[in-house]
Amino acid sequence: MSTLIKGKGCFMSTKLDIPSARGEYAVQFADSHEQVQETLSAFIKAKNPSSIVLFSNQQVFSLYGKAIQSVCQGCSNTVYLFPDGEEFKTVATIVEAISVLDKQSLDRKTLFVALGGGLVGDMTGFLASIFLRGVDWIQIPTTLLAMVDSSVGGKTGVNLGSGKNRLGSFYAPNLVCSSPEFLHTLDPKEVQAGMGEVIKHAILDSQELCIEVQKMVKVLIANQWKLTPEHSLPVDILIKICAVKASVVAEDEREKGIRAWLNYGHSIGHAIEKCLQYQGVLHGQAVLLGMWIESAWTMQQGWTASRVVEYLESFVKSIDMSIEIKDTITRMTLFDAISFDKKMQCDKLQLVVIRDFGSVSLRSLDTAEIQSLVAFAVHYLHQFFDTQYIISSRHS
Ligand SMILES: NC(=O)c1ccc[n+]([C@@H]2O[C@H](COP(=O)([O-])OP(=O)(O)OC[C@H]3O[C@@H](n4cnc5c(N)ncnc54)[C@H](O)[C@@H]3O)[C@@H](O)[C@H]2O)c1
Ligand SMILES: [Zn+2]
Repeated sequence: MSTLIKGKGCFMSTKLDIPSARGEYAVQFADSHEQVQETLSAFIKAKNPSSIVLFSNQQVFSLYGKAIQSVCQGCSNTVYLFPDGEEFKTVATIVEAISVLDKQSLDRKTLFVALGGGLVGDMTGFLASIFLRGVDWIQIPTTLLAMVDSSVGGKTGVNLGSGKNRLGSFYAPNLVCSSPEFLHTLDPKEVQAGMGEVIKHAILDSQELCIEVQKMVKVLIANQWKLTPEHSLPVDILIKICAVKASVVAEDEREKGIRAWLNYGHSIGHAIEKCLQYQGVLHGQAVLLGMWIESAWTMQQGWTASRVVEYLESFVKSIDMSIEIKDTITRMTLFDAISFDKKMQCDKLQLVVIRDFGSVSLRSLDTAEIQSLVAFAVHYLHQFFDTQYIISSRHS
């Protein structure tokens, strides 16, 4: 895949400029959160908002909230803390936030700032897109997944009972400002889960990036996935991973074409999450399993090179996959979960097929092929978890 977006001037730049329907926005990587404060301060000075609402959650706010809030001083500012957990990414949470915002005298020159992971980012962006028909907003992503994935591309939203992210909008932020320093307080399990989307972007891009990621993961494993000032994630690799997503969304913001490539691993991944009712599984873990299973199945069809599956298997076996699949994943539940997914069109499933590293296509699967994929996935999952981590005695 050709990388369309590169850092300004040279690839090692710490900034990506991404076009969007709302205008171009920068994804800026800083070495420290002090530098994030400086970038934020400069943006606020230039924009001169009438007020600022800082959205976060208790966990992240207790770590970084005061530092970010200090930059907002001089301007009327308030803090709104979302509850923590995917189960709260709902319309009810949005309605609750709106009722609080409605009591502040906010106008359209208000700036929203999202400080947190993908959850805070997706919900803040959704609120920014609907509140007063749209206000400016900034993302300060604090998880690996949010830095390389959810903060880029302007998809916002919440989950509905029928599935993930089924209510939302395309509403790009005005600025994204990241620093790997935020990751030093992140639970190693979240670092591992975030690696799922990192690996996805590397596979979509090239063999070279896949090798770089593999080397980075080796170092992380040696440090038990703990990120510290001595063992931080290099900004240059984070930028390269981000640039993969940036290049796709720059070409296809509204997912009319190649943005669907980013759904690689998500047909099975989302279905696993739904079968488990979003409990005990992190999104990145589900995506990694999804890529592995989908690619093993497409390899069986003769569509995928075996080295892609081997590459994925090496991560599946080295990343924390302690997920309780119990009896919840059967042919029936997995098929139902896939059928609800946004990627289904007229009874056909749009599956992302990786021919080889950096070589991607889309295939439309009919019902018989979906059933074959589902049967394969259920068998693969139970076989993997039975041998690796106990779990189910009942195979469907
Ligand atoms: N908009 C998109 O394009 C897009 C893309 C991918 C995923 N997503 C969404 O992102 C969400 C997942 O995001 P996530 O993986 O960032 O999870 P998350 O936002 O739930 O954060 C994970 C946990 O880490 C904590 N945390 C966050 N930053 C921390 C830090 N620096 N130090 C310590 N703890 C910290 C949070 O409080 C939370 O408990 C899902 O809802 C998914 O659907 C959206
Ligand atoms: Zn994802």
